[in-house]
Amino acid sequence: VTPSPLVAALRDAAGEPHVLVDADVRAPYEIDWTRRWSGSAAAVVRPRTAGEVSAVLRACAEHGAAVIPQGGNTGLVGASVPRSQEPRPQVVLSAARMTTIGEIDRATLQMRAEAGVTLGALQAAARSAGLDAAVDFAARDSATVGGIAACDAGGIRAVRHGTARMRVAGLEAVMADGSVVCRMSGLLKDNAGYDLPALLVGSEGTLGVITSVLWQLVPRRDARALALVPVGSVSDAVALLVAVRQHLPSLDACELMTDEGLALVLEHIGTTSPVRRAAAYVLVECAARADPLEALAAALDAAGVTDAAIADDTAGRERLWQLRERHTEAIGAAGIPHKLDVGVPLDRLAAFCDAVQAALTDGARPILFGHLGDGNLHVNVLGHDAAEESIDELVLRLAAQHGGTISAEHGVGVAKARWLHLSRTREEIAVMRAIKSALDPECVLNPGALLQPRT
Ligand code: MLT
Ligand code: ZN
Repeated sequence: VTPSPLVAALRDAAGEPHVLVDADVRAPYEIDWTRRWSGSAAAVVRPRTAGEVSAVLRACAEHGAAVIPQGGNTGLVGASVPRSQEPRPQVVLSAARMTTIGEIDRATLQMRAEAGVTLGALQAAARSAGLDAAVDFAARDSATVGGIAACDAGGIRAVRHGTARMRVAGLEAVMADGSVVCRMSGLLKDNAGYDLPALLVGSEGTLGVITSVLWQLVPRRDARALALVPVGSVSDAVALLVAVRQHLPSLDACELMTDEGLALVLEHIGTTSPVRRAAAYVLVECAARADPLEALAAALDAAGVTDAAIADDTAGRERLWQLRERHTEAIGAAGIPHKLDVGVPLDRLAAFCDAVQAALTDGARPILFGHLGDGNLHVNVLGHDAAEESIDELVLRLAAQHGGTISAEHGVGVAKARWLHLSRTREEIAVMRAIKSALDPECVLNPGALLQPRT
């Protein structure tokens, strides 16, 4: 069969074996993890270098194709797979072959990683050098550095180390016209002009394709202690956070679960709760050079906690962590949920949770969990038609009304682009659109993600 001109150009750009056109081989790249988002690609291309990515983007521009950048395809907002509504042919640009990790600079604690390096591989490389990647979340073995930077992912340790943005000390990206932008000097102080890496972080693949990141590592703190504390309400959970934060400089994670979510996970993995059942639960983890167990116990004591499961060995901690980390999987096994990732200021978090519970009726089953320390809540709703978007709008409006954001760490993606105005002013959106049209005038890169197509 004679390949289409687009496929022939992609083969020239990345090499024939790295352009996938057969439907069954393309299939896993065309549907997202939640099973809510899918579309058809003319091809999946897997370039090896920034130079090849540049050639791919030039080929796509020349043949009028849209480009969907894809890392580990763990995104939850529909931005990593082809659009069902896009009229142009779409090419999935996979980072799967860009997996080189560079040497660590011992003076700066920075390490170069290509876009397709998984978070797990990055963490392992850092660990083996006595250092720490400082970002962590459950999809660590699939999510990749390029996507993590492009979405400014957060995860469970942002309460101490910030989101991915804080880790990006430099970046290489290919722009829509194929030009390669590289700022990899790693200089902490470098204010010679616009901070282009900062612009690309959180741009969700709409301004350029990130091909490498200079990752800022931190010293390793190996001694860990974890407590799972049952609490009477979300407002008690926030009060606990306030209390332990003051006393625990070693605080490394502070997570929230509610009893609905814990019940689902316990059933899914076939185990029983290690603590008494309560309305909500807080996981408090400390990390330090010396064993933080005593400090943790003292802080819980000072906070008036009388009842908690505590673990300071790896197996015990993993047992407790899985109750939180397996929420996504347990919810997915129960159905296709609405997944809303919002951020709400901590002093209004409890009111927001109450408002969500009160607003969701008609069999809708809200499961709230997330990163308490950051006010970042994952509102998952089961028992409601996955295609019915009124529920998404309701939750996002409530987040905005409580002074929050419609997207804390998953990105806006395709899922929430139509509600961007709930979090950003008209003026801000106009600036974003101006940047987008200057850098990608034909809207080749990730169309429909973050900014809705103009009608
Ligand atoms: C999590 O914190 O577990 C993730 O963000 C995944 C999710 O929200 O499902
Ligand atoms: Zn999360």
